[in-house]
Amino acid sequence: MGKLKTIGVLTSGGDAPGMNAAVRAVVRAGIYYGLKVMGIRKGYEGLLKGDIEEMTARSVGDLIHRGGTALQTARSPEFNTEAGVNKAIAIAGVFGIDALVVIGGDGSYRGALDLGKKGLPVICIPGTIDNDITCTEYTIGFDTAMNTVQDAIDKIRDTAYSHERCSVLEVMGRKAGYIALNVAISGGAEAVVLPEKDFNIDIDIIKPIIEGRNRGKKHYLVVIAEGVGGAVEIAEYIEKKTEIKTRATILGHIQRGGSPTVYDRVMASRMGAHAVKLLRDGHVNRAVSFINGQITDYDLAEALSMKKTIDEEMIELNKILAL
Ligand code: F6P
Repeated sequence: MGKLKTIGVLTSGGDAPGMNAAVRAVVRAGIYYGLKVMGIRKGYEGLLKGDIEEMTARSVGDLIHRGGTALQTARSPEFNTEAGVNKAIAIAGVFGIDALVVIGGDGSYRGALDLGKKGLPVICIPGTIDNDITCTEYTIGFDTAMNTVQDAIDKIRDTAYSHERCSVLEVMGRKAGYIALNVAISGGAEAVVLPEKDFNIDIDIIKPIIEGRNRGKKHYLVVIAEGVGGAVEIAEYIEKKTEIKTRATILGHIQRGGSPTVYDRVMASRMGAHAVKLLRDGHVNRAVSFINGQITDYDLAEALSMKKTIDEEMIELNKILAL
């Protein structure tokens, strides 16, 4: 990379609470280190369209507490082609962008790697409520999403208790059960079903409910990850098998919105500043990560080849505590 003068920043994939705090950190750290920072709207699609303008310290004011992404986000089929990647690099050149900070999930990282390989230096920051990026123990938005779900669970428990019912709650996570597993523990669920694990409805859901009833329980919570799906059908099956009145709730996109928690704001701020420092120090094509309580970074290609597994001890813990 030649002398770094201008960096671009974009958010891509599903929005996540805390993305704004990350953009703010990139912009302000960039300006602090004497760089010009260009904001790219609507992810890679905006890059292809040249929907780009310079950001100032003031243009990211009053943003740290807001959910969603002020830069907006989009999915771009054109960018997924080689011609699209070449065009994106050419347009970055037109705007004088020497390096790009991408805030997003797994798919956004793959797009960034394509840009990096073709000569536009990139740094990725993990932003997704799913916490499923393999090279990091934390992704921006996860804590806020879990707290949103927890608030819903507490409300659902009130009515489930009042009517002595079972509630089946479907939470986000098409391929990842991190939200589901954590809120099952924090919400006191009798059972949790994750996309990473095969399940048998009679053994994994009906059995703990009946055993709980035999021990005197009067209301029940079953958490289903979106990737497993079928919350309504599962609720009907529970009611048929146990004769316990059962209701299904699918939380959906409510989990993606809302003001970020303190944890997400702090993590976003630390990761955003780290991304800029990496570029300032001449490091390129890196993935910002959180490992063992430290902000660190990995080579982007290596990061994308890593594996992340669901914590078996947490699954076991939920079974133990459902007693
Ligand atoms: O990746 C974040 C996420 O919210 C997943 O949990 C969910 O499966 C997906 O995005 C939904 O995507 P969309 O908003 O495009 O329907």
